[in-house]
Amino acid sequence: MSSLFSKTITLGKELKISDSEFAQLRDFIYQKSGIFIADNRKYLLENRLANRLKILNLKDFGEYYYYLQYDSKRQGEMTELFNAVTTNETSFYRNPPQLQVFQDKVLPEILEDQRKKRTRTLRIWSAGCSTGEEPYTLGIILHEALGSEISTWNIKITANDLSENVLQSARAGVYTEYALRTTPKVIVDKWFTAQDGKFLIKPEVKKLVSFGAINLSDRALMKRVERSHLIFCRNVIIYFDDEMKKLVISSFYDNLLTGGYLFIGHSESLHNITRAFKPVHHPGAIIYRKED
Ligand SMILES: C[S@@+](CC[C@H](N)C(=O)[O-])C[C@H]1O[C@@H](n2cnc3c(N)ncnc32)[C@H](O)[C@@H]1O
Repeated sequence: MSSLFSKTITLGKELKISDSEFAQLRDFIYQKSGIFIADNRKYLLENRLANRLKILNLKDFGEYYYYLQYDSKRQGEMTELFNAVTTNETSFYRNPPQLQVFQDKVLPEILEDQRKKRTRTLRIWSAGCSTGEEPYTLGIILHEALGSEISTWNIKITANDLSENVLQSARAGVYTEYALRTTPKVIVDKWFTAQDGKFLIKPEVKKLVSFGAINLSDRALMKRVERSHLIFCRNVIIYFDDEMKKLVISSFYDNLLTGGYLFIGHSESLHNITRAFKPVHHPGAIIYRKED
């Protein structure tokens, strides 16, 4: 009993992060991903990285920082670090009012414009796509809007995230009922195959989406993304400080084709970040247009 008790104390002691270790790791994470962890979220690093220390057999967070900088396996550990510090909360049909605006106003406008130009090409970028619910939702909405005409279109939804873990499950396209908690039943019945209590996204939706790892703090990589008619970056910039937000939003501006739109999360704002876009107000959603 007493040895168990003393072990708990030791373990507890091992897992504490000092102020200077926290500052080192916080700055390192910021530099590598743009994710800013405020002082009052120190516990987040402590809790989420404790397991990494145990697995790597490191005695404190100082050693972990050293490992991330110099160990020969540091590249693989960066993936673990990103997986640990990102928040991947998402769902199909997240924020319905915004998606309604996309479906009823924005999409018809862009599709009509493309038909007039006789190009029938559509490029959408889902930046910070997590486990794939957002880009697949957009794919479903496109199928719903275009019906059989979709076969005459050249459509690509580019979906990126920092975390390899989430990209792996996004590519698999297999979901639990929880991921569908905000999805109308008719949509679930039409676009998913139920199998052993799971829900598999249909191949015709899956094939519209291309997943890949992109760190939004890497401007050079961002420049390589094909130019888009629409960008969805929802519930991602909330984790960045203003400097990083400015960097990311200006890359989105450069990437968007004229007349294209940027969608951000409903609790996010471009106030104090940029005046380059024209905010377009709709009931339940503000979206941002790149003007001529
Ligand atoms: C809360 S999820 C949002 C998912 C989806 N966009 C939505 O609204 O449901 C935020 C995602 O952004 C990703 N992310 C955070 N920082 C990133 C960065 N620097 N580069 C790329 N993705 C990042 C995280 O890995 C996470 O999957």
